[in-house]
Amino acid sequence: MIISYPGNLSVRLYKLLMTRIKAMKITVTDNYKEQSELAASLMCNVIENRKNAVIGLPTGSTPLGMYKELIKSYNEGKISFAHVVTFNLDEYIGLPATDENSYNYYMNHNFFSFMDIDKKNINIPHGNTDDVTGECLRYEENIKAAGGMDIIFLGIGRNGHIGFNEPGEFFEPYTHQVILEKSTIDANSRFFGSVSKVPTSAITMGIKTILSARQIVLLASGKEKAEILKEALKGKITPKIPASILQLHEHIDVIADSEAAVYL
Ligand code: PGA
Repeated sequence: MIISYPGNLSVRLYKLLMTRIKAMKITVTDNYKEQSELAASLMCNVIENRKNAVIGLPTGSTPLGMYKELIKSYNEGKISFAHVVTFNLDEYIGLPATDENSYNYYMNHNFFSFMDIDKKNINIPHGNTDDVTGECLRYEENIKAAGGMDIIFLGIGRNGHIGFNEPGEFFEPYTHQVILEKSTIDANSRFFGSVSKVPTSAITMGIKTILSARQIVLLASGKEKAEILKEALKGKITPKIPASILQLHEHIDVIADSEAAVYL
């Protein structure tokens, strides 16, 4: 267990928070495979306790190993998603679900199509809509109507973003439209072949939406995440590093491989 003092809070407020914070548990794994196995096992635990669990899901490179492990467990008959409800963190604006760079496509091709999940229980923001504001409100309402998320899995961007909550002057609470930072567009251009093809905006769960999950698992893999992971977990809580707000959650597991955890 590592509990760190967020330096920008008064001692009084910190003590008050500490009575509420159970702990942030940081687990360092030897490698990516171990990290993925551990993340998958945390998801399986939640589903074993509640077969109609509501689960928040990420995209990107980091969770791919976790999805592979879950598919393996499903094929071995150890887990079922038949009653599970999922909410993805985010989606690009302007890409149809059939576009191979949409997160809809990613989820179907890397995970859902291999599982027994009921399609009506899959929720991904509709990024190809004329009514983005209405879509954001609908998404937020749907999470509430499902009873809130039992657990959410997150990656971390090199700029400290979670979902697509980019660094800024304040924390955006609810599901909203976001203009993507240049650093995010550059980082994600590896999937699109060129920077000019990357959408410039997205729909993302907000910070309060993410924090409303009853359990959070933050995954970080590789040396390019080491610096930002240290800042997010050990530094000031600030909207300039959106992941830093996770320090305030009552039930969070950080699973970092040894390269990402090098400065922790
Ligand atoms: P990555 O993205 O897993 O592809 O590094 C993480 C993120 O941007 O949240």
